[in-house]
Amino acid sequence: MINKPKGTNDILPEESYRWHFLEARIRDLTACYGYHEIRTPIFESTELFVRGVGDGTDIVDKEMYTFQDRSERSLTLRPEGTASAVRAYIEHGLHQKEERCKLYYIGPMFRYERPQAGRFRQHYQFGLELYGESSPWADVEVISVVSRLYAELGLSNVIINLNSIGCSGCRSEIRDTLRGFLERNLESLCEDCRRRYDKNPLRVLDCKNPQCKTIMSGSPCAIDSICPDCREHFEGVKHGLALLGIQYQINPALVRGLDYYTRTVFEFVSTGLGAQNAVGGGGRYDNLVHELGGPRLPAVGFSTGMERVILTMQNENADPQNTENTELRVIALGKEAEEAAFRLTYDLRRLGLRTDMDFRNKSLKAQLRLTDKMNEHFALIIGEAEIKERAAVLKDLAARTESKVSLDNAEQIVKNIRGAHA
Ligand code: HAM
Repeated sequence: MINKPKGTNDILPEESYRWHFLEARIRDLTACYGYHEIRTPIFESTELFVRGVGDGTDIVDKEMYTFQDRSERSLTLRPEGTASAVRAYIEHGLHQKEERCKLYYIGPMFRYERPQAGRFRQHYQFGLELYGESSPWADVEVISVVSRLYAELGLSNVIINLNSIGCSGCRSEIRDTLRGFLERNLESLCEDCRRRYDKNPLRVLDCKNPQCKTIMSGSPCAIDSICPDCREHFEGVKHGLALLGIQYQINPALVRGLDYYTRTVFEFVSTGLGAQNAVGGGGRYDNLVHELGGPRLPAVGFSTGMERVILTMQNENADPQNTENTELRVIALGKEAEEAAFRLTYDLRRLGLRTDMDFRNKSLKAQLRLTDKMNEHFALIIGEAEIKERAAVLKDLAARTESKVSLDNAEQIVKNIRGAHA
């Protein structure tokens, strides 16, 4: 017996309707906002993530699935979608056609993390990216897509954490202020954070070590050292959110686990998810397109972990109804009936009715039990007696009624069933 790899999930048929429901809401919503889907490879050159996500982040240092292919190229299973989307945007010259570009993606991401509830080594993300817009309205639009999505899914206990971590202009001042504070506490920080002190002090704010967390609760905040332009941008974001009635809380400790962010960062936190409570996150990344070889164009984006969204929906009793079951079971009793039933089943399916038929010659009782197990609302019973009259018995199992229908009128059977549902 070979089991699935640690930290991965099989999405079984009885759960897949939840995924289809979520994906359908995502596709409806992204269409309303003018985003178009992009599908990029599951693996990329390792260099893309080292440069994109950032050397010194946990993702790059500890969590990537990196391997050499048979030609000794270093490849990595994508840990996130932003770097890949930017690469494709540049590689295909999408910016030459129109700088402003709105992309979304749905797909699996891979991170070698310690698995626990809500944290997996393969997880799915829905993400979107908006290129070519520097206005705070763009940040607000992105946040509004996500908050609309959560609202439409029935999630009400999701809180938005918002912060600004400055731009390349003011980042050095933010770093210096932070280094000054860290210097005084260097001895008490974990080994990783002592390294971060030199390389990327903002990362210390993201450390999960409890002692580092306690120390950092008294650290200076990036938000207090941002430049006037970043401040104006941040005020614009807050104003836009207020205009749309989107509630948020400022979290000065929020820096996010990826290095490409500038100015706005945000995270959506679900109060019912336990330790892995971030359902989604994102922010502005005005330097990444240029850093990955493209023109100097601003960008902002977001992604949400789909397993965490589904878990949150279940926790909040917002589980959707499963509307993917077959509606009707055609039950044939005897050889002659089987042929007529098989033909009729074909016609009913052609008319769009979700219909099933069993070929194992089970008894009427066994087949009715199966109907019940499959949550089907109707059974159409064709026995030897009915065949002679070219008729069948249509049982409405929920209403506990039955009627005689013609075997030669599939349209009428569909009408009867649809009428009963209406
Ligand atoms: P991220 O915060 O690293 O951001 O991941 C986005 C979301 O993916 C998280 O909020 C969480 O819901 C989910 N997630 C991450 N890791 C796991 C895991 N191991 N198991 C289950 N779910 C997980 C990004 O990836 C950025 N690319 C977001 C972005 C897009 N920023 C700008 N554009």
